[in-house]
Amino acid sequence: MAIQAPEGTKDLLPDEAAFWAQFKRTAAEVFGRYGYAPIETPVFEQTELFVRGIGEATDVVSKEMFTAISGENLKKLLDGGTVKAKSRLSLRPEGTAGVVRAVVQHDLVPQGAAPVKLMYAGPMFRAERPQKGRQRQFNQVGIECLGAEEPTVDAEAIIMLMQFYEAVGIPHASMRLLVNSMGCDRCRPAYREKVLAYLHEHAEALCDTCLTRAETNPLRAFDCKNPDCAQVMEGAPKITDCLCDECRAHYQAVKELLEAAGVTYVEDPTLVRGLDYYTRTVFEVQVVDGLGSQNAIGGGGRYDKLAEEVGGRPTPGLGFALGYERCVLALQAAGVEFPQATRCEVFVACVDDSVRAQAFSLVQACRDAGLPADMDHQRRSLKSQFKLADKLGARLVAVLGPDELAAGSVTLRDMQTHEERTVPLEDVPRMANA
Ligand code: HAM
Repeated sequence: MAIQAPEGTKDLLPDEAAFWAQFKRTAAEVFGRYGYAPIETPVFEQTELFVRGIGEATDVVSKEMFTAISGENLKKLLDGGTVKAKSRLSLRPEGTAGVVRAVVQHDLVPQGAAPVKLMYAGPMFRAERPQKGRQRQFNQVGIECLGAEEPTVDAEAIIMLMQFYEAVGIPHASMRLLVNSMGCDRCRPAYREKVLAYLHEHAEALCDTCLTRAETNPLRAFDCKNPDCAQVMEGAPKITDCLCDECRAHYQAVKELLEAAGVTYVEDPTLVRGLDYYTRTVFEVQVVDGLGSQNAIGGGGRYDKLAEEVGGRPTPGLGFALGYERCVLALQAAGVEFPQATRCEVFVACVDDSVRAQAFSLVQACRDAGLPADMDHQRRSLKSQFKLADKLGARLVAVLGPDELAAGSVTLRDMQTHEERTVPLEDVPRMANA
């Protein structure tokens, strides 16, 4: 049997790859207006970065990371040896940890400097059980802003995210924006204890996973999909009732800025997100219909302690990432048509083989004039050359035969109107461009 793409991965065939390129261009345009500049970080990092940054007890780190290992180190391990900590590598499950590592490593926010605003787009890897909207390699577009803790950063990022979705064509009405505050290291520990006590009180109604996780991160019980656990968690203490004054004021300011900008949101005090680095604002955008359980098309939040976790000086931060493949599913669910990339404007058809060299030169002249142009490369009949031109979406077909060549002209056919006219050979690129 022919070899297939690995489970949980997806080829982006030309039309979709063209859409992905356009998606990234739209992100650069929208985010560029807010001062975000591109950054590229490696697709693999030291495993330690993700363990310290995202959190050892998270599903992403404890179950879903792909290890990257050189053949030499694999051999060492198989022979019973060990590899150095810096050689323990993992494919990035998300982009934030790597970007924050780069900011710290290159000192992109020196003390007292303006915040740094960075954006990225590329593949992420999580060894999850594949299903609709859940892949093992998927593409994210994300932003990170480091160096400012003002609520204006949070609000502008959320506004920008919603503008981006609309710019790529996801209908406003098909989305729901959830917001919450996770508190900080002053108020969250006490809240954690409250939730832990609540979980202990309701232990008999909770699933084993929630009970095991309770000791490491009791808040994860809010994420459990088990209906019994969900019912129990409805009555759990709410973080928004336990915020310290500073966190409450910060959260209030974010909400007011969103309201002033006309952004509709739903407060969801159970929104905890699956990564451990969040402090204060968290948010998630879900698609209302058609995506089943994998309905989050993007999410993010503030992470004021992450830079320190990875060895840097205290540097507040905030960011989000959105899943490209899930956005495509959201567009399909909303019945949005994908734009087709133009691959051929002018097709040069040969009446017989004697004119192939001149046809080749004409195609080249069209391309040099900036027009997507092509010709037959398989010695097809004239009829099937027309079929091919049609398939490629050509607007014009220039028919070149020995008679036309002798007269220094071609017959130019408009593929929509079927109108034909004879034009001088050297005028084709100019006329096709008009
Ligand atoms: P996340 O919520 O884990 O956040 O992922 C962001 C988005 O990536 C999700 O909303 C979803 O659209 C997409 N996504 C996640 N996992 C998969 C998967 N297995 N298959 C397909 N799409 C997926 C983060 O990654 C954080 N780094 C966001 C962030 C940036 N927070 C602060 N800065």
